[in-house]
Amino acid sequence: MRYHYFMRAAVYPGSFDPLTNGHLDIIRRGTRLFDRVLVAVLENEGKAPVFSVGERMELIAACTRDMPAVEVHSFSGLLVDFMQRVGASVVVRGIRAVSDYEYELQMALMNRELNAGVETIFMLPAVEYTYVSSRLVKEVFRLGGDIARLVPPQVLESLRARLQVV
Ligand SMILES: Nc1ncnc2c1ncn2[C@@H]1O[C@H](COP(=O)(O)OP(=O)(O)OP(=O)(O)O)[C@@H](O)[C@H]1O
Ligand SMILES: [Mg+2]
Repeated sequence: MRYHYFMRAAVYPGSFDPLTNGHLDIIRRGTRLFDRVLVAVLENEGKAPVFSVGERMELIAACTRDMPAVEVHSFSGLLVDFMQRVGASVVVRGIRAVSDYEYELQMALMNRELNAGVETIFMLPAVEYTYVSSRLVKEVFRLGGDIARLVPPQVLESLRARLQVV
């Protein structure tokens, strides 16, 4: 009998400005399905980010130290080109509500159009994170709301330092 061992790698792309507990939940679930989870921070975004790509990568690395399967990368350009470069064929995306579905469906089908070998899988976060987004977390934080349960402690600290709210 012959044994084949594949290192299954998945890419979890996003802007992660900043990482939230929702992202972290999806990453953790991903590590139970894949041998390697490559979190890929998208560069060159239109929106003015709060954290640079490097800062976002450092935060993700700091918050996933207990997960040896996780690697932190960044990319610009097409996701399918990045995936080819790193030798991964699965994209992981998180779906919070029906509202995410339409956009995610479009992206997944476009990526399939660009590279038929790329599969996208959708994962659901724990219910308590279904309303959490980076945008909303930043907005609530700026207005002085308590987001301690929604982001990792390192992210909270960095938001405090960056946006100077006590
Ligand atoms: N709380 C969450 N639960 C599950 N999936 C999530 C959550 N937040 C984001 N995702 C998913 O993670 C991927 C990357 O998302 P992205 O970096 O755009 O985060 P975001 O929180 O939506 O940020 P923004 O508010 O800036 O759009 C997407 O597939 C998105 O649907
Ligand atoms: Mg989003």
